Amino acid sequence: MNLDFSQIVPSMPYILKGIGVTIQIVLASAILGFVLGVILSLCKISRNKPLQWFADAYTSVFRGTPLVLQLLLIYFGLPQLLGFDIAPFPAAVAAFGLNSAAYISEIIRAGILAVDKGQREAALALGIPYRRMMGQIILPQALKNILPALMNEFITLTKESAIVTVIGALDIMRRAYIVGGEKFAYLEPLIFAGLIYYVMVMGLTLLGKAVERRMRKGD
Ligand code: ARG
Repeated sequence: MNLDFSQIVPSMPYILKGIGVTIQIVLASAILGFVLGVILSLCKISRNKPLQWFADAYTSVFRGTPLVLQLLLIYFGLPQLLGFDIAPFPAAVAAFGLNSAAYISEIIRAGILAVDKGQREAALALGIPYRRMMGQIILPQALKNILPALMNEFITLTKESAIVTVIGALDIMRRAYIVGGEKFAYLEPLIFAGLIYYVMVMGLTLLGKAVERRMRKGD
């Protein structure tokens, strides 16, 4: 067997620096995806047909095409339309955020519908306006129920972020790939990158469990 990790030891700090890049991309995309996801989910449950139609079409398109294609369209395609270049970081955040919004909107929609309809009826009977009912009564209860699903999405985003390597953002994956090319040995840096992703995902899993446990205490 021909596996020698000692040759990549000097390059480990370089690969580890990718963690910051990956985290920045994932956090920014998660925030964008969540905000858009909430808006889309409200469109989906509204009585306004064009809004419903738009939100459903949005989800259908973003779930119906590969994420890597969406990323390449934004990074290489948009500049052709707009006439100026987009840096890898904003392109990645836009692609992952827009894509994740499609999934998150479905999660939140299901969460809202799962809140007992007596809550809605009671709010309406009390004359509470729609915005307050949603913001202070329905959404908080929905969020509690969908927390595990949101955490799952966050984990997916962390792993899927590795495809920014195709547009050259210097995340964990890209750095491992570069080191592989320099050393003419891909296996060791790739295994190292895999280990980093695995530890990050395990960290998120534990965090999700801890938050869930805290939430259950309130019941
Ligand atoms: N590999 C899938 C694709 O190419 C990932 C989609 C992203 N999934 C997600 N839950 N955000 O479309």
